[in-house]
Amino acid sequence: MISLKSCSVQETHEIASVLAALVRPRDLVVLSGGMGAGKTAFTVGFAQALGVDEEEHVSSPTFTLVHTYSSGRIPLHHADLYRLGSLGEVADLGLREQVDLGAVALVEWGDVALEVLGDALILDLRNDDNDDDVRHITISVIGHGWDTRWDRLRDSVRRWSVAA
Ligand SMILES: Nc1ncnc2c1ncn2[C@@H]1O[C@H](COP(=O)(O)OP(=O)(O)OP(=O)(O)O)[C@@H](O)[C@H]1O
Ligand SMILES: [Mg+2]
Repeated sequence: MISLKSCSVQETHEIASVLAALVRPRDLVVLSGGMGAGKTAFTVGFAQALGVDEEEHVSSPTFTLVHTYSSGRIPLHHADLYRLGSLGEVADLGLREQVDLGAVALVEWGDVALEVLGDALILDLRNDDNDDDVRHITISVIGHGWDTRWDRLRDSVRRWSVAA
C-alpha cells in the first residue's frame, strides 16, 4: 500500500498525471472515497495527462454512468457507480469488457462492485479533519497487473508520500 498526502487540487492533478504516465491498456482504476473527496478532480488531471483533448470536456458522469474519451493515448472510460442499484447493473455496463479491448477505466464508487470489476488499482481518497484542501490518498492493488510497475509507481509519487 502507498500512502500519499495531497495539499491542493493541483497536487491531486499531479498525482493523477503520474498515474496516467504508468497506466496501460486493460488497466481498471477504482476511485473510492466519499462525496467531494476528489474522485472527479483526480479524473480530470488523469485525462489531461493522458492527452485527452480539451474539447472533450471531462465532467462527472453521475447521470450518464459512463463517459468515454477517445482522443488520448489510450481510450478512457470514466464511470460513476453512485446511482447504480445492483451488481447486475454494473456488469451490464460492460466496463471490464471495454477495458479488455484495450482501454482504461476510472470507476468512481467502484469499491461497491469490486467482485464484478475484477483486478484493479484502487485509489482511496479521504478528506482531512482540519484542512479543506488536504486529501489522504492510499493506493492498493487487486490482482497482479501492477506487479512490474509497483516500484516505479512508488518512486514517482515519492514527493507526496507519507508513512503508511
Ligand atoms: N487536495 C484536493 N484534491 C482534490 N480535490 C480537492 C482538494 N482540495 C480541495 N478539493 C476540492 O474538493 C472537491 C472535490 O470534488 P469532486 O467532484 O472531485 O469529488 P468526488 O469525489 O468526485 O465527489 P462525488 O462522489 O460527489 O462524485 C472539488 O471542489 C475540489 O476543488
Ligand atoms: Mg465525482
